[in-house]
Amino acid sequence: MDWRSELKALEEALAELKEKYRQAVDPNVLEEVRVKFLGRKGPIKALLNFIREVPPHERRELGRAINEIKNAFETWIQEKRDQLGEKEEEIKDPTLPSRQNSLGHKHIISQTIAEIVDIFREMGFALADGPEIEQEYYNFTALNIDVTHPSREAFDTFYLNLPPDSDKGKYLLRSHTSPMQVRIMERFSPPVAVIVPGRVYRPDAVDASHSFMFHQIEGFLVDTDVRFSHLKGILMEFARKYFYDDVRLRFRPHYFPFTEPSAEVDISCLFCKGKGCSVCKYSGWIEVLGCGMIHPNVLAAVGGEYMAKTGFAFGMGVERLCMLKYRIPDIRLFYNADVRFLRQF
Ligand code: PHE
Repeated sequence: MDWRSELKALEEALAELKEKYRQAVDPNVLEEVRVKFLGRKGPIKALLNFIREVPPHERRELGRAINEIKNAFETWIQEKRDQLGEKEEEIKDPTLPSRQNSLGHKHIISQTIAEIVDIFREMGFALADGPEIEQEYYNFTALNIDVTHPSREAFDTFYLNLPPDSDKGKYLLRSHTSPMQVRIMERFSPPVAVIVPGRVYRPDAVDASHSFMFHQIEGFLVDTDVRFSHLKGILMEFARKYFYDDVRLRFRPHYFPFTEPSAEVDISCLFCKGKGCSVCKYSGWIEVLGCGMIHPNVLAAVGGEYMAKTGFAFGMGVERLCMLKYRIPDIRLFYNADVRFLRQF
């Protein structure tokens, strides 16, 4: 018997098996194949038995060749099993919930801005935004804020190390959203009714109620014969929608350089409805925003058609409104890198 041709036949048999079972197979079928090939009546065994009849000097060569084929076969079987194993795992339990992909969600401050903007858009206000890097002229001068006003001091405003503009003065991070009143009026003819959300910056020491950066929403309306009663009506509607239906408003006289008359607005406490509690410090009222009739000097700074108009403006702190609504005790929670707090909203 020519063992070389037997060996060749064995190699071909293995190649045939590999070809036949290229696709994944039933593990039982695979086991049958394995037993048939390696088993007592299999071709490997037959060839091993044949070794005795081979001349002694050729036995080593035959033995090694048989072993190689046997190893190749076993490796192939193992690969097939591994494939099956993976397949099995994939379909193990199709009823399991899928892996949670965290897509994130809108920050509660963004949600609050969207909610407030929606309330004003329903009343016909347009939405605008403006630069966070402002100029002295828009942040102060055009808003009737005198050069001697304390808010212009370096400890109240972040000035930037840029060469000042010959017209509009130094560059700074805006300390409020009010500069957008002037920027909008410069670009659009009256009537205008606009809402401007955005970030503002003040070099305040950070504590539970202060941050060097926070968000404001500015609103203003300019037209012919706009009166304080219009302002009251608009703010009443806002407070009803944002806080609660039978909310009451209190306008306390105040001073802002860019409005006259000016007021701070309190709402009846949203927790005790005005009876007095720890949140409103037993006063029944909570301060929510500043407002007033746009100062004639501001309209004059814009000039043109605006000289003959009147208007109102208001500005509110988004963090503050959000903290009130959800009883959030500390402003720093909004900016914390540990997002467990923010996930709640
Ligand atoms: N800009 C004022 C502030 O930052 C708020 C305000 C806006 C007051 C508009 C009156 C009118 O405190």
